[in-house]
Amino acid sequence: MKISFLGHASLKIQIGNITLLVDPFISGNPKASHIDVDTLNADYILITHAHQDHILDVEQIAKRTGAIIISNYEIVSHFQTLDIQGHPMNHGGNWEFDFGRIKYVNAIHTSSFPDGSYGGQPGGFVIEGEHKNIYIAGDTALTYDMKLIPVSTKLDLAILPIGDNFTMGIDDAIIAADFVECDKILGYHFDTFGYIEINHDEAKRKFFENGKDLMLLEIGESIEL
Ligand code: NI
Ligand code: MN
Repeated sequence: MKISFLGHASLKIQIGNITLLVDPFISGNPKASHIDVDTLNADYILITHAHQDHILDVEQIAKRTGAIIISNYEIVSHFQTLDIQGHPMNHGGNWEFDFGRIKYVNAIHTSSFPDGSYGGQPGGFVIEGEHKNIYIAGDTALTYDMKLIPVSTKLDLAILPIGDNFTMGIDDAIIAADFVECDKILGYHFDTFGYIEINHDEAKRKFFENGKDLMLLEIGESIEL
């Protein structure tokens, strides 16, 4: 499993020959101007919630690639009205896809579309593929529900928001890492705009002092699990 950071909360995940994009927000992120939205490949697009900074490039990429949306029922229904195909899920549900298994899990946040219409409840994803298991928290507060994840899945990586203000910050993300029982963390949802700027060295040090490894990738950089 190869995971690339595309800036903000946008990820590319390659499992075998299948490519998943997560929350593509690239054309609106000046820090990601070196990522070309028009050449990004996708078989599936996973969407954690309906906010603009998670769905901005979905329509364009899905129409060009024919990618299938995986998200909550309301978000999938929204994109189906735009002639984009999708697989609707809801919290607690699992589905076996051709690349592996996905569970849509709880997040504490909001989920309106940019026009204010209802985007269902926000979520995160647990993805099991190629014998690797990852958790993508989405935008969320620290929540006790995270303790349910290791009950069913032994994680190899947790991808957690760390930018604070709109989501949990570093201190709560360290507790979240404990709750999901994973010491290998990829931070996301930081630095994109003023409210969520973080001190990278301090963030890494705090995780290290708690026995955890925080990775912060450059935009475009990848890790292999
Ligand atoms: Ni959000
Ligand atoms: Mn966000």
